Amino acid sequence: MHKVFASAPGKVNLALRVGPPRTDGFHPLDTIFEAVDVYESVSATYAPSEITVSVRGATQELPTDEQNLAVKAALVLRERFGGTAGAHLDLEKRIPVAGGMAGGSADAAATLVACNELWECEASQSDLLEIAGQLGSDVPFALLGGLAHGVGRGERLVPINADAHHFWVMITSPEGLSTPAVFAEFDQIMGYTRIPDTLVPDTLDLQRALAAGDSAAAISHMINDLEAPAFSLRPDLRDLMKSVEGRSAGHILSGSGPTIALLCDSLGAADSLANALRTENPEHGIIRANGPVAGARVTEAI
Ligand code: C5P
Repeated sequence: MHKVFASAPGKVNLALRVGPPRTDGFHPLDTIFEAVDVYESVSATYAPSEITVSVRGATQELPTDEQNLAVKAALVLRERFGGTAGAHLDLEKRIPVAGGMAGGSADAAATLVACNELWECEASQSDLLEIAGQLGSDVPFALLGGLAHGVGRGERLVPINADAHHFWVMITSPEGLSTPAVFAEFDQIMGYTRIPDTLVPDTLDLQRALAAGDSAAAISHMINDLEAPAFSLRPDLRDLMKSVEGRSAGHILSGSGPTIALLCDSLGAADSLANALRTENPEHGIIRANGPVAGARVTEAI
């Protein structure tokens, strides 16, 4: 194999419940992930030993060393399978950087499936999910896709089989938000310190509504515990959220923000809302997205 192309989707959390930080500093989550059709693409070209990366379409400059999650994914996969070959990774980004839609995690997931094929590692899906969990809390979901219930740091997943078709309008921000900063602000607001056995509110009502195909109930149970800390760090987001309230069936901050996700009743409603918001909010990016969609996959190998 000489060159492998792969893609992985971004995500929105339909619900994101957060508990007090564990002794390792991570927060226990109870979350419902939905993969949306905003894709990161990667091409992995065979190289004798080096792992390098180039990035196109990023809204902010990204590191090109091991700090880049795609490079780290390739390194960890290679180490795990004892290979020596390298790869040049060319990332084409469509998901906003530091936007709360897991763009970096999608880069890592696409890289894992691409390099698995390029280097003929023959890693199983469960091997890849395990490596993904070491790379970051959202990387396993970018591999799995669809709709899933996430617990632990968000890396332990159970797929949800629901007949859901969601039409989203995403309002992106020119400036990203740091996920660790939002979690730290969450602790500050809640007065939390690290504790050994932490409890987290559940997402059972939303899971039941999804299973029953009751979209009105599902929308009423959408909740994101990171909204308050994100708004505290970025008061402009609260104003933006207020300004779009009532324009769609549901609205929620995506992950740790700053992207705001509006859930619409129909494809037509989503398209016309997106068009209106593009005119009204020239300083923000507007992305039309549909979900749920499948996770990371190889699209071509030559
Ligand atoms: O897992 P990931 O590397 O994506 O997490 C980035 C940062 O977000 C962590 O270093 C931590 O500060 C915060 N985080 C957290 N609890 C989680 C997930 C992420 O505190 N469950």
